[in-house]
Amino acid sequence: MERLQKIIALSGYCSRRKAEELIVQGKVKVNGSLVTHMGFKANFNDCIEVEGNPINPKEDKVYYLLNKPRGVVTTSKDDKNRKTVLDLIKTDKRIYPIGRLDYDTTGLLLLTNDGELTNFLTHPKNKIEKVYIAKIKGLITKDNLKKLCNGIMIDGKKTSKAKAKILKIDNKANSSLVELIIHEGRNHQVKRMFEMLGYEVLKLKRESISFLTLDGVKTGEYRELSIKEVKKLYSEIKD
Ligand code: URA
Repeated sequence: MERLQKIIALSGYCSRRKAEELIVQGKVKVNGSLVTHMGFKANFNDCIEVEGNPINPKEDKVYYLLNKPRGVVTTSKDDKNRKTVLDLIKTDKRIYPIGRLDYDTTGLLLLTNDGELTNFLTHPKNKIEKVYIAKIKGLITKDNLKKLCNGIMIDGKKTSKAKAKILKIDNKANSSLVELIIHEGRNHQVKRMFEMLGYEVLKLKRESISFLTLDGVKTGEYRELSIKEVKKLYSEIKD
């Protein structure tokens, strides 16, 4: 017997946290009966339905690393019918993105049907480093670089310690290229950190997540993670 939210996450339907929300919202049935209380344990052979969809916790896990181009949304379905990251990957598995990149942000995005790994990689306690390269309007100052590192107030909450370095200052074009390394994943975090300091982000690219980089993966292309890489990601988990 396992906790219901764990079985749902293992099925790849969503993360464990999201599964907990769905249970409380009355969207989960076990063998035809609604379950709304936390702590309910189920069997892998039980018939579990989430939002009316039967789930299969034993489905093979798959992991993709995509180099997301601009102009693609990071959702499974877009209400404006725009191209989604799922349109770029050929698979018969029900995968979803781990975290989110904005419509105009490019770079490394992981997609999987492994809810457990999603949960681990997105939980702030695991401090998974993400490297972003931002091209910003204006000339960044050392003082503002320090502020980025020490934390910026966004919606009344300070961002955690980050690392930042100047890659290039273009006096003529009045722009700067900055590398920012963060381990949180708040909404539009990088853009908002710069905006709070008065800089507009002109371009944003995610270069890496933990040890995974875009090496050998062109824009719009993807590759599967190796078993070794998946094991290494799991080994980064601090539980
Ligand atoms: N931070 C942002 O502002 N946008 C992204 O797409 C990713 C991180």
